[in-house]
Amino acid sequence: MPLSACNRGVYWRRCGQVGGLLAVVPLIVGAADGNDLSVLSPASPPTHFITKFFIFELSLLTGIILIPYGTLLIYFLIRYRQRPDDDGSDPEQIYGSRPLELAWTVLPLLIVFLIFLIVLRSVADIRANHAPPQDGDLVVQVVGHQWWWEYRYPGQNVVTANELHVPVHQKVFLEMRSADVIHDFWAPRLAAKADIIPGRATHTWFEAEEAGEYGGQCAEFCGAQHANMMIRVAVDPPDEFQRWLANQQQPAAAPESTAAQEGRHTFLSLACVNCHTIRGTPAAGTVGPDLTHLMSRHTLATGMVPNDPDHLRQWVQNPQQIKNGCRMPALGLSRQEVERVVAYLITLH
Ligand code: CUA
Repeated sequence: MPLSACNRGVYWRRCGQVGGLLAVVPLIVGAADGNDLSVLSPASPPTHFITKFFIFELSLLTGIILIPYGTLLIYFLIRYRQRPDDDGSDPEQIYGSRPLELAWTVLPLLIVFLIFLIVLRSVADIRANHAPPQDGDLVVQVVGHQWWWEYRYPGQNVVTANELHVPVHQKVFLEMRSADVIHDFWAPRLAAKADIIPGRATHTWFEAEEAGEYGGQCAEFCGAQHANMMIRVAVDPPDEFQRWLANQQQPAAAPESTAAQEGRHTFLSLACVNCHTIRGTPAAGTVGPDLTHLMSRHTLATGMVPNDPDHLRQWVQNPQQIKNGCRMPALGLSRQEVERVVAYLITLH
């Protein structure tokens, strides 16, 4: 009795499985071309560990499982395909083979055990280097909020949001806590992924080897705008970092133009002050991002849109339109009020 339709189904299913595994390869190769989120272009000691381990594990699993399994599969598919003279009967059946059973039980166990040992070793290596912070390390407190990042530089009188500035070639120690739910700080080229857990302090560290901009992403589902909880790390040359720090330490300068002065007055008379701080003014809310040096940041809404007057206007008018579900409500300001507030905000360099 011919079984061809059924066999063909099995054949394509099998091909699908092999194809699915092979489809991973271009993804990995594609990730290697240096984009700022790639785990394959490490730029700091902890991520060097992680990348080496990833490549080791990938080679191990590809070499021991994917390639032999795929090769055998293709061989069997061709060798035992249905032929025209097939009478449809089952081949002789075999019941169990002790050597084979042992091989496919013991070998995976050994592989998993080996990987386990290497993970232990890597974690110990990464940990040994990070706690506690030493003299000369830069300590930054990271607070995860739904859905933005707060960065505080203890002892420096600097609080900022969403764009972390650090100097190149200096160890940075991140002390992390959450204002609400579990988040996860993940800058794949710089630091080991670390959960941020309410009621508990966690930490991670890195030491960037090259100046430049590095990306990241909150890596723990934390609500509606989790995907838009992006991380930007600006790794600056030391003198540039010091300039940035010195500017951030200043309170907001009093605005010069009349429009901005009116805007400041409007801002301070509205509910804005309940959530935002602008140092040098009575606004001292801590629920939302510190706006003292708002315009020193390149993006708004945690990396969603560029920080320019147009987007700022849209944001003040109705943040929900840009970032649906975010904690900042539309205050229902008149057009004139929006213009005034924005005229003030854009002076906050
Ligand atoms: Cu914060 Cu996901």
